[in-house]
Amino acid sequence: MNFLNFAVNPKIMKDLKINLAPESRVSKVDFHNLPFGKIISDYMFEIDFDGTQWINPRITPVQKMAIHPMNMALHYGQSIFEGMKASRSKDGTPLLFRPELHAERLNASARRMCMPELPHDIFLEAIHTLVGIEHEWIPKMEGSALYIRPLMFATDEMVGVKTSDAYKFLIISLPVGPYYPKPIKLLVENDYIRAAPGGVGEAKTAGNYAAAMYPSRLAREKGYDQVLWLDAIHSKYLQEVGTMNIFIVFKDEIVTPATTGTILKGITRASAIEILRDNGHTVNEREISIDEVLSRYEADELVEVFGTGTAALIANVEEICYDDRVYQLPDDWDLSSSIRHEINGMRYGTVEDKRGWTVPINVHSEMPA
Ligand SMILES: Cc1ncc(COP(=O)(O)O)c(C=O)c1O
Repeated sequence: MNFLNFAVNPKIMKDLKINLAPESRVSKVDFHNLPFGKIISDYMFEIDFDGTQWINPRITPVQKMAIHPMNMALHYGQSIFEGMKASRSKDGTPLLFRPELHAERLNASARRMCMPELPHDIFLEAIHTLVGIEHEWIPKMEGSALYIRPLMFATDEMVGVKTSDAYKFLIISLPVGPYYPKPIKLLVENDYIRAAPGGVGEAKTAGNYAAAMYPSRLAREKGYDQVLWLDAIHSKYLQEVGTMNIFIVFKDEIVTPATTGTILKGITRASAIEILRDNGHTVNEREISIDEVLSRYEADELVEVFGTGTAALIANVEEICYDDRVYQLPDDWDLSSSIRHEINGMRYGTVEDKRGWTVPINVHSEMPA
């Protein structure tokens, strides 16, 4: 087996056990035809919280897990996750993108859901070790990547609403191609809501995605790729889109909804804002109503609309539908293309990473015997 590295830092995970598979499935994968989210790599990382501390870290071949019918995550939804990507720079180095922000956000979700925080060094070391072992699963083509899915869920076995004492944290990874290969159409939703002030909209917790499923299905039945959510109180202000934050580009400013608790604090969103501001653009994080978007569209002030997220990176929006009226949006997409170029360039090592956002996978020692 050709492991690039074996990234275990014994100071962080002295008890890590690695159980190697007899052979890798990687050579059977068609990297030019990767359906999103269906092909899993060879290994998974696992660590358990026993009510007091994180114990028993291990990397094993991907396997099914036995779940007790009283598992509390199934009943009461203490379940959170992250989504990040490893890419390969042009000299072959595997790169992560801002992994420490994902460690922080996982713990922000954990606090809101009454779950234990995972020390950043365990989170980061686990990813370095797992992706180091699995580096051959990182696709080489631009737009493709190894999608990394850290997740944590309750493991107490009991029926009765309370906080679980025990939890499991896992990391799996999946090679993926581009998420939205073409521009998308959005349906502005004003009957259903995704999240309300004081709720859990800012946490990356499973229930937020469950709440979105029925309205998303209705949108798909009408020919739309995703729902564009409005706020829960006034049914007026833009929130976010499916698994992306939303940006509206007007002639004199770029606007994205402020993160006031009901939307996810996207890492691509934060990166896009910083890049745009560094490039001299005015980016305002504020309330933005659907009426403002549409009246400025009618006044010919709207330049483009795009979504940002780890899976899609930057998705161009070509059409929105609100109150049964369809609006065809301008298709210049200059600004979103420039951000895509810049972030992808950092991820694939073709644009200088002046901000230190990309992190090469650690190489600690020789391949294991
Ligand atoms: C609900 C939601 N909003 C926004 C995003 C975009 O966040 P990020 O850029 O960190 O992937 C995601 C994806 O993680 C999401 O699930």
